[in-house]
Amino acid sequence: MAVKIIGTGSYVPEKILSNADLEKIVDTTDEWITTRTGIRERHIADDDTATSDLAARAAIRAMENASVTPEQIDLIIVATATADTIFPNTACRVQNKIGASNAACFDVSAACTGLIYAMEIANGMLNASPRKYRYALVIGSDKLSSITDWTDRSTCVLFGDGAGVLVLKNDPESGADSNFVVESEIGANGAYMELLKMPAGGSAMPASHETVDQRLHTLKMAGKEVFKLAVGGMVDACKHILAASGVTPDQLAWVIPHQANQRIISAVAQRLDASPERVFSNIARYGNTSSASIALCLDELNSAGKLHKGDLVLLTAFGGGLTWGAMLIRW
Ligand code: ACO
Repeated sequence: MAVKIIGTGSYVPEKILSNADLEKIVDTTDEWITTRTGIRERHIADDDTATSDLAARAAIRAMENASVTPEQIDLIIVATATADTIFPNTACRVQNKIGASNAACFDVSAACTGLIYAMEIANGMLNASPRKYRYALVIGSDKLSSITDWTDRSTCVLFGDGAGVLVLKNDPESGADSNFVVESEIGANGAYMELLKMPAGGSAMPASHETVDQRLHTLKMAGKEVFKLAVGGMVDACKHILAASGVTPDQLAWVIPHQANQRIISAVAQRLDASPERVFSNIARYGNTSSASIALCLDELNSAGKLHKGDLVLLTAFGGGLTWGAMLIRW
């Protein structure tokens, strides 16, 4: 018995916000954004498009790619930091939009590490209960533009909207040694919770006139501190799982770090001694799409025929919490 990825899909909104567009909104330049982050443009959803809409469109594409019907799906997990509402969860809304009426549904909150957390949970559930969970949708979807402070140049240039989906299948015919997760590690350190957060809107600080006036329903980040912790956290997690699996960097078909900043991606690649042409990056076109970022990369590679059966792919991410994770997968 083995769990496998049998399809991928993604969706980004049509509207593109370029660095030149941002120059008209805040005191910034294309040159600053490009050299400090590697980002050239990002996709931004309309006001009437929610995180679940992005997810549902990506899910439909992923199910087509996997040749499964919505009724076959037993489980929908949505990783997101921008849930449509605190409840009902975003996964229930996706279920309703795609007609996956047989699926159990819940969200995972681990900010930009959300997809790896969701993959870890789905892998565990499908392996533990193969009769109950045969097919799962693991979704990373975020509409970060809805919590962006468009007056804060240090954050608003970084983020974009999008969704990516993986279809998992529990295949009783396959041997356990072909399970898609070869090795994984997820971790967190709540002592760093203040570095990256949206202060208001939850039970700790419910919405009020003051929270709106003070822009506390938007993302706040201590960029420099997060940068350092991000590189260290991802590199350590990757080294642990490479050592545990006995896989060396030259055996990796791809390394896919969370797309937060090109300088972070490059620093991680360098410290892992991974060859640069094997380190995937599409941040120039999408910016940081949080939970969606790694799934967007996987779908782009899969659609381009650049993932082959048996390929070893190293995923790693970090995000608010702080949370981090790494997963070595076999395609
Ligand atoms: N345009 C022009 N100047 C700017 C901009 C901008 N958009 N933003 C900041 N600056 C200025 C600052 O004001 C500062 O000016 P000063 O020296 O006069 O004070 C100067 O540029 C340098 O600012 P730094 O913050 O030191 O710039 P840095 O090189 O650290 O880059 C950045 C900032 C891009 C945010 C970087 O720290 C970073 O990428 N951090 C990690 C962020 C991240 O990956 N977060 C992901 C988590 S997201 C999630 O979990 C939802």
